[in-house]
Amino acid sequence: MDHKELWMRETDRDHRDDYRRWLWLADEPDAVTAYWGQGVLWAFGVGEEMVAAALMLSSEHGTELMVEIKNIAVAPLWQGHGIGHRVISDLVEYYRVRGYRIMVVKTANSSLRNLAFYQTAGFRMDSIQRDFFTASHGYPTTLIENGIVMRDLVRFTRDLSAEGTL
Ligand SMILES: CC(C)(COP(=O)(O)OP(=O)(O)OC[C@H]1O[C@@H](n2cnc3c(N)ncnc32)[C@H](O)[C@@H]1OP(=O)(O)O)[C@@H](O)C(=O)NCCC(=O)NCCS
Repeated sequence: MDHKELWMRETDRDHRDDYRRWLWLADEPDAVTAYWGQGVLWAFGVGEEMVAAALMLSSEHGTELMVEIKNIAVAPLWQGHGIGHRVISDLVEYYRVRGYRIMVVKTANSSLRNLAFYQTAGFRMDSIQRDFFTASHGYPTTLIENGIVMRDLVRFTRDLSAEGTL
């Protein structure tokens, strides 16, 4: 695929339910319900086909604008072809030119592929919230990935003001 063809579109709030299953690719349904309805949901596609989605939450910290990738998912058949990296770079560019300074994303200690993906996409580890993956956060059962219990939340950040220095 020529990645120049990838389009990025803000989804219409009235039709957001049509996209819920996309976010289930990345997170547990109960957890998605907790933040469903917040932020901006972006759809990405090639021609008529939607290939990825990302839910972005903005916040202000003093004078600093921050944006979090709350959920990101590429359609299974399109994974491993560079779409995820392209989605990140399009989002970085979109929010950077609008004055956002920090982009945040969080994943689980057990999600080895995602831990690699975010680092190759320009993020650095920032902090760890231990014992996050519990019922109170929408994770009612013990999940195991790569033989590792999903337990701790790893927070990554990317400094958008330092673009071009990767
Ligand atoms: C995580 C996820 C968003 C990544 O998207 P993706 O489209 O598969 O990512 P990419 O193809 O850009 O990169 C994945 C790998 O493919 C490889 N790749 C293959 N072709 C590539 C290309 N043309 N350009 C860049 N990388 C390419 C890279 O080596 C990359 O490896 P890395 O992660 O070690 O850098 C996707 O796998 C996904 O939706 N997973 C399920 C949901 C999920 O877990 N979301 C994250 C929740 S925290």
